[in-house]
Amino acid sequence: MQSPLGFEMTDQYAVFGNPINHSKSPAIHRQFAEQTGQDLHYAKQLVAEDEFVTAAHTFFAQGGKGLNVTVPFKVDAFGFAQELTPRAQRAGAVNTLALQSNGKILGDNTDGIGMVHDMHNLGWDIGAKRVLVLGAGGAVRGILQPLLAEHPEKVVIANRTRSKAEELVAEFHDLGNLQALSFEDLVGKKFDIIVNGTSASLSGELPPLPADLLNAQACCYDMMYGAEPTVFLQWALDNGSAKIADGLGMLVGQAAEAFYLWRHIRPEVVPVITALRRQLNEKK
Ligand code: ATR
Repeated sequence: MQSPLGFEMTDQYAVFGNPINHSKSPAIHRQFAEQTGQDLHYAKQLVAEDEFVTAAHTFFAQGGKGLNVTVPFKVDAFGFAQELTPRAQRAGAVNTLALQSNGKILGDNTDGIGMVHDMHNLGWDIGAKRVLVLGAGGAVRGILQPLLAEHPEKVVIANRTRSKAEELVAEFHDLGNLQALSFEDLVGKKFDIIVNGTSASLSGELPPLPADLLNAQACCYDMMYGAEPTVFLQWALDNGSAKIADGLGMLVGQAAEAFYLWRHIRPEVVPVITALRRQLNEKK
């Protein structure tokens, strides 16, 4: 964009959230920009709980090109967007806003595709697999469409409150083979991939899972990440999971998709994941 004096100004991006202090998004996008030679500035902004719409209007009115949106504003951002990608429409939540050439602000949700791309990078194949998704909140809603687009044999959503899993099945069943279960219903079932999308890991809790849920070669993925394996990933290791991964790759993957939407260039995720992992380990 041009400044009032006619100079070319660096394109401005930001992440809005509350809290925002520990956001890794500025560091991730800085690395993407360096890698791809893109001239952009990316800031983090703490936004008061009821101030999202005002802050987003101000950001774009001042020439901002794109925003990432994190907790607790993804549904506000869904309402704020003037146009939506099909996956954002399905997710009912937006984590990326982009000013388009037609002047309209597009809302996208790159969380699910970020996770699916991370699984591809890890060499995990989702096609024709039996997938169990734990949880039925906003995080799970955000991944269902990209997950089902991989054509798994079946996706079971198990949730503490089974009715919430059933609501998701009613909403997404046109996209693939979906079933809702409670945790107790899982006894005797086997899966190739389990994704933990509950917020239980945050408090170090584990959903009550039967010990023999995993097929040989099964892979377990936690959407949360940390310096140490989450309690779910520890459970996976203890119960014969062949491969495990936490959500650090998903974090970088969703950022890469946002970067692509804004700059039309696909950055390399692996060096950025490696650098973030090293930092996490150094802080241990
Ligand atoms: P998010 O945006 O992280 O998805 P959310 O919409 O509040 O957050 O959803 C949290 C999910 O984690 C829900 O599926 C919740 O189960 P309920 O629907 O029964 O509340 C699940 N969850 C949270 N703590 C849990 C725990 N200790 N054990 C099992 N599930 C848990």
